[in-house]
Amino acid sequence: MPVTNTQSGTNVHEVADGIYRINTPVLLEGGFGFSFNQYLIVDDEPLLFHTGPRKLFALVQEAVASLLPVARLRHVAFSHVEADECGSLNDWLAAAPQSSPLCGTVAAMVSISDMADRAPRALADGETLSLGQHALRWFDTPHLPHAWECGFLMDDSTRTLLCGDLLTQPGSAHPALTEADILGPSEAFRLTMDYYSHTSKARPMIERLAAAQPTTLACMHGSAWHGDGAKLLRALADSLAPKAEA
Ligand SMILES: [Fe+2]
Ligand SMILES: [Fe+2]
Repeated sequence: MPVTNTQSGTNVHEVADGIYRINTPVLLEGGFGFSFNQYLIVDDEPLLFHTGPRKLFALVQEAVASLLPVARLRHVAFSHVEADECGSLNDWLAAAPQSSPLCGTVAAMVSISDMADRAPRALADGETLSLGQHALRWFDTPHLPHAWECGFLMDDSTRTLLCGDLLTQPGSAHPALTEADILGPSEAFRLTMDYYSHTSKARPMIERLAAAQPTTLACMHGSAWHGDGAKLLRALADSLAPKAEA
């Protein structure tokens, strides 16, 4: 796995055709291992999905630069408004003068039209965007797993779902791409951190994502996953469903 920074261990790995996972392992307070991933889609209009936290900007920039000139970036996209999603957004806008923020309509209206140094391009639910070879589709997923403005991007050309915080795995050492169980570790972590919103609409929203039939799930934390994505997403919906009272 190509390491782009030996000190941090930041590394890049292609997880689907033209889609690169940039991974930085970290040790959080209390000695708790975790990892932050960003995904770079190399195409005519290169797109970065999540910027990484502001304090990791130099490392992520170095990793992107190992794949293409940073100034070529056109879209700086993210799922919702949090430091690991878009904390270094303005740094990217400065480094890539032709780029603009790409997010859902709620994120654009509520936060990004104010917080970003350039106007965002907002995608409506179901709206598509062609990068050249890759054709992306935006899904609004309010409060799934958290944040009103939350949404995901599906690349229908490689059947890759950029699924953000869904299926978050704790720990700092993960293979870039796995076919092993990630639902178990992710659900164990969710039960300790409770980072989901408990929206009652989780199942229909997950069902829409499953219907897109992704074969690669590009998670923000931990490994990307390869396999029957619809089946895994439906298992997640089952696990999230409130259990019947005994
Ligand atoms: Fe989040
Ligand atoms: Fe996250």
